[in-house]
Amino acid sequence: MERRGVVAKIYAIGVGPGDPELLTLKAERILRQAPVICAPSANPADSSYALSIVEGFIDRSRQQVIVQAFPMKTNRQELEPFWESSAREAVKMVREGKDVAFITIGDPFLYSTFLYLYRLVKEKYPDVPVEVIPGITSISAASIAAGVPLAAASERVAIIPAAFEEKELRHVLLDFDTVVLMKVNRVFDSVYSLLKELGLEKKAVFIRRVGSPEEEVVFDLEPLLGKKLDYLSLLIVKK
Ligand SMILES: C[S@@+](CC[C@H](N)C(=O)[O-])C[C@H]1O[C@@H](n2cnc3c(N)ncnc32)[C@H](O)[C@@H]1O
Repeated sequence: MERRGVVAKIYAIGVGPGDPELLTLKAERILRQAPVICAPSANPADSSYALSIVEGFIDRSRQQVIVQAFPMKTNRQELEPFWESSAREAVKMVREGKDVAFITIGDPFLYSTFLYLYRLVKEKYPDVPVEVIPGITSISAASIAAGVPLAAASERVAIIPAAFEEKELRHVLLDFDTVVLMKVNRVFDSVYSLLKELGLEKKAVFIRRVGSPEEEVVFDLEPLLGKKLDYLSLLIVKK
């Protein structure tokens, strides 16, 4: 989309949880047109999961695909240089008149790497337009894949990153009707023992890579104990 007289933009595109048919029409249209697609990856040598979802919409003979490294670190200071360089790269393209589509798994405004970039661009390059295209979250797709509705009537839902302190997690599990635990892979064993203590282990379902060919929905959680679990997995606890 290098159009005369029209200012180029950064688009943040939610590409949904894994199935290319779960993209919005708007996301697909922008992805087919944008001259530059930026895809996040924990390691640039690895393929990007978000990119694998939208590969069928991209024509590499006329669109440039940039895989940007965002290592899985929790220390913000260590991550800042990666966000800065990604923002600089995207802004440079926009200033050259090219739209940049930054793809993100699920929805860009839910625990997404894009949120850091969004803040940086807003702060450092306020003249650069950013448009966010919503996506279907992994939570919506997982609840449907598992056949577990998130909420009905007056039920209350909590969405939390699983690496919460045990005391906080216990409160959330007791207080809400439905609890969605994101990023559960590394703390699964301790979450399971808490669920067991609260008598909730049979009320939970583990969903991995929903929407993709590797999708798994697991109701019997015990066999997962001690296993190396996929980062792209979550737990839904429904009382
Ligand atoms: C950084 S967050 C990204 C969330 C994403 N923006 C969304 O809207 O779903 C990553 C976490 O989302 C969840 N997730 C993302 N994609 C998933 C998928 N296809 N299947 C299951 N869980 C997924 C996992 O809990 C993972 O640890």
